[in-house]
Amino acid sequence: MNKQPHFIPAFHFHWLTRWYDPVMRWLFPEGRISAALIAQAGIQPGESILDIGCGTGTLALLIKQTNPDTALYGLDVDPKILEIARQKSEKNNETILFQRGLATCLPYADETFDRVFSSLLLHHLTREDKQQALEEIFRVLRPRGELHIADFGQPRDFTMQLISWVTRWFEEVYDNILGLIPDFATDAGFNPVQQTAYYRTIFGAVVLIRAYKPER
Ligand SMILES: C[S@@+](CC[C@H](N)C(=O)[O-])C[C@H]1O[C@@H](n2cnc3c(N)ncnc32)[C@H](O)[C@@H]1O
Repeated sequence: MNKQPHFIPAFHFHWLTRWYDPVMRWLFPEGRISAALIAQAGIQPGESILDIGCGTGTLALLIKQTNPDTALYGLDVDPKILEIARQKSEKNNETILFQRGLATCLPYADETFDRVFSSLLLHHLTREDKQQALEEIFRVLRPRGELHIADFGQPRDFTMQLISWVTRWFEEVYDNILGLIPDFATDAGFNPVQQTAYYRTIFGAVVLIRAYKPER
């Protein structure tokens, strides 16, 4: 990928990228959500796993540390954030294959992965790109493979609803707040699609979703 495509960086502005890890550590229940997402995936030794929109690689690193006998790939469109991810994995002596690419045009063959993770990526994509990314994930998953999503979702309580009135104008989060991500996953071919957890955060309601690619 030579020309820089348009994308929304991790914290909306490129100059904020270097603050992503410290802010997430302090203001977001990142550890709790990542641990729950990994636990629900039930990863088995020998599996091939993709973390799409991997950002600074925190989730990918945790997957690799908790499941050393796996082949782990991290994909992100932002070369600057991938550099942070590479440095972190090197520092921790973990082998993760980080690659630059677009969620809407994955550089992998059909049926490559057993599990795909998507953490806080989808709210960066337009509706059309969310749908295309989910179709791409479906394509690269093996039959009976699983997609595990952590992202903003439909608020279920008053405080989260209040926050969503502000954040709904931010980035491409509105479809998340409307609760449309499971519908988009179903449209892409996943079945069943289940919302498995709900978290209240200062940025709004975050949900975990598990979606299965049927056998054939
Ligand atoms: C909020 S960050 C989430 C990072 C990480 N997954 C996490 O949970 O901390 C969103 C990431 O998606 C990446 N991104 C945005 N648009 C993308 C696209 N079209 N294809 C691939 N990555 C994209 C951004 O560069 C950023 O690193």
